[in-house]
Order: sequence, then C-alpha cells, then structure tokens
Amino acid sequence: MNMDTIHLFSANTSVVILSKSAPQILYWGEKLNHFDETVALITERAVSQARLDIDIPVTLCPENGRGLFSTAGIEGFRISADGRNLDWAPVFETTEVEFDDTSASFTCIDDIAKLELKIALYLDTSGVLRKSLSVKNLAVEPYHLSRLVNTLPLPHRANEVMSFHGRWSREFQTQRVSLEHGAFSQDNRRGRTSHEYFPGMMVGSSGFSEQTGEVWGFHLAWSGNNHVRCETKSDGRRFAQMGELLLAGETSLKNGESYSTPELYACYSDKGLNGIRTQFHRLVRSEILNFPNKALRPVHLNTWEGIYFEHDPDYIKQMATEAAKIGVERFIIDDGWFIGRDGERAALGDWFLDKKKYPDGLEPVIEHVNQLDMEFGLWVEPEMVNPDSNLFRKHPEWMLGIDGYDQPSGRYQYLLDLQNSDCFTYLFNCLDALLTDYNIGYFKWDMNRELVQPGHEGAPAVRGQTLAYYRLIDELSKKHPKVEIESCSSGGGRIDFEVLKRTHRFWTSDCNDALERQTIQKGMSYFFPPEVMGAHIGPYESHTTRRRHDINLRGITALGGHMGVELDPVKESDEEKSRFAHYIELHKRFRSLLHSGEVFYLDSNDTTRNVYGVKNPDEMLLTVCQLAMPDFASAEPIRFGYLDAEKMYQVEVVDFPAASRKLMKVNPSWMDNSSIFSGELLNKVGLTMPIQDPETAMLISIKAV
Ligand code: DGJ
Repeated sequence: MNMDTIHLFSANTSVVILSKSAPQILYWGEKLNHFDETVALITERAVSQARLDIDIPVTLCPENGRGLFSTAGIEGFRISADGRNLDWAPVFETTEVEFDDTSASFTCIDDIAKLELKIALYLDTSGVLRKSLSVKNLAVEPYHLSRLVNTLPLPHRANEVMSFHGRWSREFQTQRVSLEHGAFSQDNRRGRTSHEYFPGMMVGSSGFSEQTGEVWGFHLAWSGNNHVRCETKSDGRRFAQMGELLLAGETSLKNGESYSTPELYACYSDKGLNGIRTQFHRLVRSEILNFPNKALRPVHLNTWEGIYFEHDPDYIKQMATEAAKIGVERFIIDDGWFIGRDGERAALGDWFLDKKKYPDGLEPVIEHVNQLDMEFGLWVEPEMVNPDSNLFRKHPEWMLGIDGYDQPSGRYQYLLDLQNSDCFTYLFNCLDALLTDYNIGYFKWDMNRELVQPGHEGAPAVRGQTLAYYRLIDELSKKHPKVEIESCSSGGGRIDFEVLKRTHRFWTSDCNDALERQTIQKGMSYFFPPEVMGAHIGPYESHTTRRRHDINLRGITALGGHMGVELDPVKESDEEKSRFAHYIELHKRFRSLLHSGEVFYLDSNDTTRNVYGVKNPDEMLLTVCQLAMPDFASAEPIRFGYLDAEKMYQVEVVDFPAASRKLMKVNPSWMDNSSIFSGELLNKVGLTMPIQDPETAMLISIKAV
C-alpha cells in the first residue's frame, strides 16, 4: 500500500489525497468502490511547454512560493529585527500525517519562514467534508497574517457557479455565472454573515438543476467578514476557496500564537442540488443542531408586526389569549418592552423593563401566557447601543469604533465593543438577570447594524467581535441550558452553521410576503432544514411589500418551515382566525415529517411554478406553488421522482383554494376522489395537474398504502 495516497469515503463520496511533499486532493466525487494506489499514476499531470519545468499542484493550501500563480491559500509577512519584509511567500513540507477512513490531518512546516501549518479534513457520514487550517508562528518576530483560506479543487467539468446574494427583506437570491477564465469572487465586509453575500456557493456541471447534474456545494461556517471565490487557472484546473476576510493587520501572530480558520463545509452530489440539500440537512441535524427541548418545534406568535412599539400589557394578554385559541405554542414579545424604547431611536443598551408600560411588571403577562400553555419568549439586541440611552451616556467608551473618527449610525444605533470585558460583563449580567428573574424560554436575539470602523482599542476587531459574540451566547447557554435562541439580524443577516451551533432557529427574513418568501426559503433550503427556518403567516397586506395575499398562499408558505404568525390576532376577524387555525393545524399534522424528512425541489419546465416537498420512506407532502401566470394553458404533469417504484400511494389534495378549483372546466378526477397510484407511474409518467391562479398553492399528501 502506497502510504502517500489516502482514501476518505462515506456511503456516496470519495476524497483521495496525495500526502507527499504538500498534500493535494487527487479526486473528490462519486464514491470509488475499487480504490487502489494507481490513482496517483492515473492523475499524474503532463508538463506543458513554455511553463515551469515541473508540475505544480493545487495543494490543500496553495502557495505561490511554489510557483502556482493563483490566489494563494496563505498570505502574510513579518518585519525582521533589521526592518526587512520577510516570509511573504511560504512553502510548506509535510512532516506528519494521520488518517483513517474518514479523517486526515497534516502538519506542514516551512523552516525558513518559521511557520507551522495544520490541515484537518473530516468526511462526515452525511457525505459532508469539513476542512479547516491553522497556522502557528514559530519565530520570535510577529507574523502578520493577511489571509488563510480553505481551498478545495474542482474538476474541469465544474464550469457553472451558483452564488447567493440579497439585501434586507430579500435574502438568499441566487445568481448563475459560467466559469470560464479568471474567477468568480465575492467579498462580504459587513461584519456579520450578511444579507448581501451569504457564504455559500454551488459549483457544478453546466446546467445543473434541482434534480440533475453534478454539483459541489460549499458553506463557510462564520458570522463575520468572508471571502468566496472560484478560480480557473489558464491550464483549466479550478478550485473553490472560502475563508474569513481579514482586515489590514487584524491578525498578527506573536511567537507561539496561531490562527485557525472557520470550518469550510463542502459536499458532492451527482443528483443535482437536491443531493447537496440532503447532505447539508443531514449534517445539520446530526452534528450541528442541539435543541435543549426535544419536543416538537412550537408554533410561534411574534408581536412585532402586530403592535410594534405600542406595548400595553392588557392588550398583549388579549393577543396571547387569541393566539392560544388558534394553536400557538410559544408567544414572543418583540422590541419595545424595555425602558425608554418607544421607537427605534432610543434605549438599546438599557435592558430593564419599562415600568411605565408594564407597571405591574412582566410577570403577569408571562403567567398569563404560561397559563394558556404557551412558552414565553422575549426580544433582545445585546450587541447594540443607541446614543440616546443611559448606557451610552454612562459609557460612551464602550462603543466599537476608532477614537477620533465619527462613524455613521445605522437604525440610529452603534455596536458595543464585546471585547471590552466590562461591557461584556454588563451585557452578560443583563441577559442573565432577565433569564433568572422571568420565566423566559426563548430569546429572539437581534442584530440590526453592520460594523463600520470596528476597532477595539484602535485595532481592527471584526474577528474579535464575532468570537466575543459567540462567547456571550456560550456563557449564557451554559448557565441557562434550557433556553432556546433565535438568530435574527434585520431578518436573515446572520444565518450560518457556526451561529447555528449555539442557536436554534433563524428569522429568515423580515419579508413576510409569501410570494417573496417562496424564493427566499428556496435559497435558504439548500443549506438549512425546515425546522430552523422561521416562517410566519403575516397580515393580508404585507408590511414590507404592500402586496396582498390570500391566506392560502400565506398559510402554505409558512407551514413548510418552523411556523409562526406575525400579526395582531385581536384585530383579525373570527373568520380569518379560523383560517390561521386551519393552517396551524395542518402544520401540526405534518410537523414531524416536515422537521425530519428529506426536502427536495422538482425541476419544472414552467419556471412560474415552485414545486417542492418533503418525504420519508412512506410519506410525502408536496407543495405546488404558482408564482405567476402559468406559461402554458395546461399544466405540466408532476413527476415525483423520489417515490418507491414498488409501492402504491394514496394521493390526496390537502389544501387548494375553492375558487381556483373553478379555473378549469374539468379538473383531473384524482383531485376529488383520493386515488391510489403506483410509485412507478407517479415517478415516471407523472400526475396531471390543473392550472392554478397566480399566487396560489396546492398541498398534496402522498402516502404509501
Ligand atoms: C428587526 C427584526 O428582523 C424584526 O423581526 C424585529 O424584531 C425588529 N428588528 C425589532 O426592532
């Protein structure tokens, strides 16, 4: 056995690494069932004319000092005692290798630059490959690290990139670019995961789709600045690169100090994007999520769009009463409960109950909520301060910034410097007191401003701030392990695997417009399973788009995630409330399937339609959402694809607006008499469908009989 080749494998994926000299991946793709060491021979590259005289590999941390001429995995320098700029082109040699069937780690040394590089790879049973690097300074003079990012190679046929972009109320939009010469590159400098550039990317064979094509999927687990890149070299080799984007001078390593990258999560699928989705969801469910309460995910009511800053405890109690009647299980008071918080311009930082609004305290409201058999949750935004707050007046020096400069506020607020230990302790104590004094089972933890000139004692501090934020949650959770936390950041500005290790739900978007949500939720679903995707029924007229939607689209769109409602139930008519109750009931009927099953989207020739579902071995729930006017006068049949060809299935329309049923002169007869079909027919021939009105949805249940 050639000890230089390492084969990591899961049920469907192989990763072959050549560890000689500097480790490089020779193969990453469909599982090799007959692996042998000739893999090193078959992958040996030719050396072209008019180039360097030897082959230069794209290693696990590409080095330009080796002669690669690409975006390097590591960059940095040190100033020697006599003022020279040195060690800016390190080249590493492997000194230690450890591996088994699922993991490999390498220690590599550059004796001249006096740097030690460690590379760790782990292939999870879900098929997801995790990769991280760390570099240690072995010299006396500090090493100024400007870049250490994770690199994974891709084959020549990976020539299309799907990237993610967005903005407030429009998260997780996708964009396709073809990867020919040069690179696709995207930098997020907003100091949080961001709405703009989610650190995820899919690269695949041309035209890859939900169900077809080869795809390599990537996600960087990090809530600060990030860098996403996919580069093609002039020889056609290509690689994906992701890492933390460091500010100038942000990471200087003293002798013996090291820097570790955030983890890169990556997986391969030969079954299109659905294969990526399945692997990421499995990984999240088995390795990342840790619900303190193992019960089913409770249905929420969040007060924000219902009452905004107008808090009247008696009225809130009425809201809770109405919420309980429609089936809500967790009631959350959003922004506006603390002293002086009458609008968005003041009070952040003063985490004490506003006695003017709540003269009898918060307890009577919480007791009322609990008596109705609901859990109580509260909104906080700990990292922030308004200049108009007692905290800022007392401690202006706690603001994250650089002395002497003015920085623009955002939503009239600034960041607090979490690396300032007094400030950290103050925030910990405030949050701890809330959790100790009140029966709070849930924090909605918001973060509404980006980081401008993030300086801690003058030094760049996005990384430090991000790590301190993690620590604040970790310390709080240690003391209050039963409390669940939602990660919110003006909607979906802080959604990633690293924050999910310490939180339990995401507020996907401030946009509750169900039509927009169809796209946002689809984008998010490539990485995150439904049970962490906060999805609420908003009011008839959306507060962010002014579009109006019937309860059918709102209800079906919300019930596919971690469901909630975001409105004032007191103001809604009894008729409308019974409709909320209907969709909450449906969610509960399918909740265990939705929150444990395999999510998939079906390719459709008509792009005005979103067809998606969730399945377990014997059951499937399918949603057919008509986003706009259908392209054709007759709808394309639905080929289910993922049913067991050997089984028989009962097909039933669970929900479809009565008015839409009248759209066709004659509907397919299966719609009215729940029918039984074979998995093979449903998969290959397909189920005929009526056309649907724009902005309506149909819910179909398919059960093995
Ligand atoms: C932004 C969040 O995304 C909203 O859901 C709400 O909590 C507001 N902040 C409150 O200020």
